[in-house]
Amino acid sequence: MQHIGTEVTMAGWVQTVRKFGSITFTDLRDRYGITQLYFNEQLNPTLDRQPIGREFVIQAKGKVVERASKNGKIPTGDIEVEVTEFTILNSAATPPFTIEEDTDGGDELRMKYRYLDLRRPTLRRNLELRYRVNRSVRNYLDTQGFWDIETPFLIRSTPEGARDFVVPSRMNEGQFYALPQSPQTFKQLLMVSGYDRYYQIVKCFRDEDLRADRQPEFSQVDCEMSFVEQEDILNTFEGLFKHVFNDVKGVEITEAFPRMTWDDSMWFYGNDKPDIRFGMTIGNIKTPVAADRTDATDTTSLWQGEFPVFNNAETILAIAAPGCSEYTRKQLDELTEWVKRPQIGMSGLVYIKCNTDGTFKSSVDKFFTEDKLKAVATFCNAKAGDLILLLAGNETRTRKAMSELRLEMGNRLGFRNPDVYKPLWVIDFPLFEYDEDGNRWVARHHPFTSPKPEHIEWMNDLSKYGAIKANAYDIVLNGTEIGGGSIRIFHRDLQEKMFAALGMSKEEAQEKFGFLMGAFEYGAPPHGGIAFGFDRLCALLGGQESIRDYIAFPKNNAGRDVMLDAPSDIDDTQKKELGLK
Ligand code: AMO
Repeated sequence: MQHIGTEVTMAGWVQTVRKFGSITFTDLRDRYGITQLYFNEQLNPTLDRQPIGREFVIQAKGKVVERASKNGKIPTGDIEVEVTEFTILNSAATPPFTIEEDTDGGDELRMKYRYLDLRRPTLRRNLELRYRVNRSVRNYLDTQGFWDIETPFLIRSTPEGARDFVVPSRMNEGQFYALPQSPQTFKQLLMVSGYDRYYQIVKCFRDEDLRADRQPEFSQVDCEMSFVEQEDILNTFEGLFKHVFNDVKGVEITEAFPRMTWDDSMWFYGNDKPDIRFGMTIGNIKTPVAADRTDATDTTSLWQGEFPVFNNAETILAIAAPGCSEYTRKQLDELTEWVKRPQIGMSGLVYIKCNTDGTFKSSVDKFFTEDKLKAVATFCNAKAGDLILLLAGNETRTRKAMSELRLEMGNRLGFRNPDVYKPLWVIDFPLFEYDEDGNRWVARHHPFTSPKPEHIEWMNDLSKYGAIKANAYDIVLNGTEIGGGSIRIFHRDLQEKMFAALGMSKEEAQEKFGFLMGAFEYGAPPHGGIAFGFDRLCALLGGQESIRDYIAFPKNNAGRDVMLDAPSDIDDTQKKELGLK
């Protein structure tokens, strides 16, 4: 309103053209939003000679005036520009979908015309958010003395658990560079060089199966520090998150982020990235074998009886869904079908209704007395009105299924509000993980992660591998892993021991990682670091799970850029030069 009466020149894209008798209105769109242009009848002859249409690029001169009928939905809704003259800077073909908040274009079509999709306000807001998160991260790290140092993209394979993308070398025929899965070894070398606080917002490349929160090329905020312990790293980067939440979202978190051990996370949430916006933690009714938990009590009396499924199961897990005791037969059948889907893979679901009148009703009434049901309810901290859901079976699958069921119930009950931020640290990860397919132990994080000093000697005993814990940590926000890191090995002998534990021969280790182990011989400082998934962080701050719409030019689920039609074949000359057939 303060601009009323000012003469302005505006340029942008025509979103709509509306003709009312002898006058015409258009909505002009630019990066900042929409402004209504008003063409009075004197401009009719010009408009007849040079008609304007959707997505034309025009420049218009005129005066800002107050609107007769205001639009409360947009910031410029009180005014319009009464056009005195205009120029068509470029015409436009009819766009293949409407360029509005709610578009009629399907995913693939919008990916093909990404430059048009990016004109939509939703994507523009996402990219603005991404820019602001980027700036906020850089500002914070600058105040903490971090330097942004670039590292190369054409490198040798770095093991981060995924497949590498490779690039053939023309000058070294038959040989390949790998694109970095992360700058892991380079940042460690920078520590050896004495650059004790490094960061980079950097592209990483991983050839892995894609999901909503995974892209083949994605960005990390990659950080490393020297002369620190785990505590220093957690505090420094907790500070970063608090700064970004506050700066970008105006959300002030004053209390320390909770810390949960990996063991607890698996035990109570069934996964290593717990969504702690809601409770409904898992009750471990039949303690799985070899649990060394101090809170694992003898629960035999809760499940032992006539029910073969419980007797035969390796584990029985339960959650209490608050206020769901009145679920109908139909709802329970539907939930049973849900856990039987191949992605979840359970053979059935047992329920116990904790009725508000204090009675209990269950799908296994035949096998269990009401007293026993009540004891289970007490064990699960279930209240009157709750519905207890139980899954039984093999430890790994059942725990995973229960974790999914808990999240599904969280969704159904509206407990997963994207405007609520519940970050936490998951700490004390296992150093190794058993790879069933490859029949061998692999590094849970990566092979540069340091074991807890008190567990180093267990590396000589294969039977202890599963129990070795690492100084490794993840930061989790609302059920998504947004970052992970560790304290690193910085002595050659321990690094050699680690490679040997992973089944690598001395020669192989030397061939692949001789450069790093060599560097450790020239005075490597103790160091550690972390990397955040920058796309994931942006998506979460935008309240979305999919990272695709926070990346200007993403790939589809098959890893294709449908706009460029890449990957593509290359011509024979190129192949020949590269020595490829
Ligand atoms: P990590 O492999 O855990 O650690 O990766 C760090 C973070 O990067 C994000 N991320 C991804 N985001 C989008 N698409 C992907 N395909 C993808 N893969 C990973 C996740 C993850 O938490 N070098 C170590 C870090 C370190 O030890 O300092 C590393 O890369 O949010």
